[in-house]
Amino acid sequence: MDLSEIKKIREKFLAFYEASKRVLPWRRNQDPYAIWVSEIMLQQTQVDTVMKRYDAFLERFPTVQALAEAEELSVCEAWAGLGYYRRARLLHRGARAVVEEYQGVIPGDALTLQTLPGIGRYTAGAIASIAFKQRAPLVDGNVERVLCRIFLIDDAPKSSAGQKKLWALAEALVQGERPGDLNQSLMELGALICTPKQPQCTVCPLRMHCGALANDRVNELPVPNPPPKRQILEVAYLWLSASDGRVYLRQRGLEGLWAGLWEPYSCEGKTAHAELMEQCGCDLVSSGISVSHQLTHRDVRATVYVPTKKKNSLARRLALHAVVDPLAAPLSALARKVVMAQVAAQLAAP
Ligand code: ADE
Repeated sequence: MDLSEIKKIREKFLAFYEASKRVLPWRRNQDPYAIWVSEIMLQQTQVDTVMKRYDAFLERFPTVQALAEAEELSVCEAWAGLGYYRRARLLHRGARAVVEEYQGVIPGDALTLQTLPGIGRYTAGAIASIAFKQRAPLVDGNVERVLCRIFLIDDAPKSSAGQKKLWALAEALVQGERPGDLNQSLMELGALICTPKQPQCTVCPLRMHCGALANDRVNELPVPNPPPKRQILEVAYLWLSASDGRVYLRQRGLEGLWAGLWEPYSCEGKTAHAELMEQCGCDLVSSGISVSHQLTHRDVRATVYVPTKKKNSLARRLALHAVVDPLAAPLSALARKVVMAQVAAQLAAP
């Protein structure tokens, strides 16, 4: 891409930003802490929702020191309504790291920022460019769309080829005056004009530079990202029954997957079988039953195991409860499949 064209494009973006930028609370000042908070909030939450919560959060935790000193629970309380609380916990840990490792002074360059908890390449670019005027690039969903269209990028934005091209273009564009404004102008065009559906090409200040518009391909770009590869989760279940035929179950913890639901005792992960044996303190072999199950983003493969020798103390040791009718318990959907398959196999056995 020729440099004089990049320069013209950069100037169009800056002029657009000057003329059309929205008045948003995090644009009032250049305080790196306030910018950091806004960028984390904006990652998975709409601008309108963030606007309603941003000032209250900063009033409660006005500085990085105040945030670092707070209890995690109170940070999560102040985050209420924004969702994805993992972000709040990471922001809190990031604040503590700034206080402990940088005497409470937020580092000004993008590479150092990226070493802090919760700060990735995008957030580091945003803080460094907006608060510290560093020529650091950023790419988010809006920027991906804008750049794919202008520069006619045919790779899916999340592909490695797509990411490489997008970050290289963002890097080239930000090499000039007012890097923070330039970065925000890319996001602003994506939010206001170069929208996913019905983009306003007739009033777009970049229309003379847009490859997608010139080739009548605006609605085709960016090309969709391939769906993420589904992860496989292995689950090993322990099938244990008492001499009177009752089946041993446990209630899962109140957090995480299948929270609070009942199931035969289980372990999860690649080493689930080994871990289950470790916890049982005895050898376990497959009962011959395995079950497949789909979660939103994962395929589960469950296998049922039984002890090779009778072990009377096991149920007590694992704090299991004997139930007469396991299918009457509030089982997880997977545990229900497992129990049904195991019971059916036992009934069918000679
Ligand atoms: N989305 C994330 N950060 C933003 C910013 N600084 N301005 C506009 N939209 C954004």
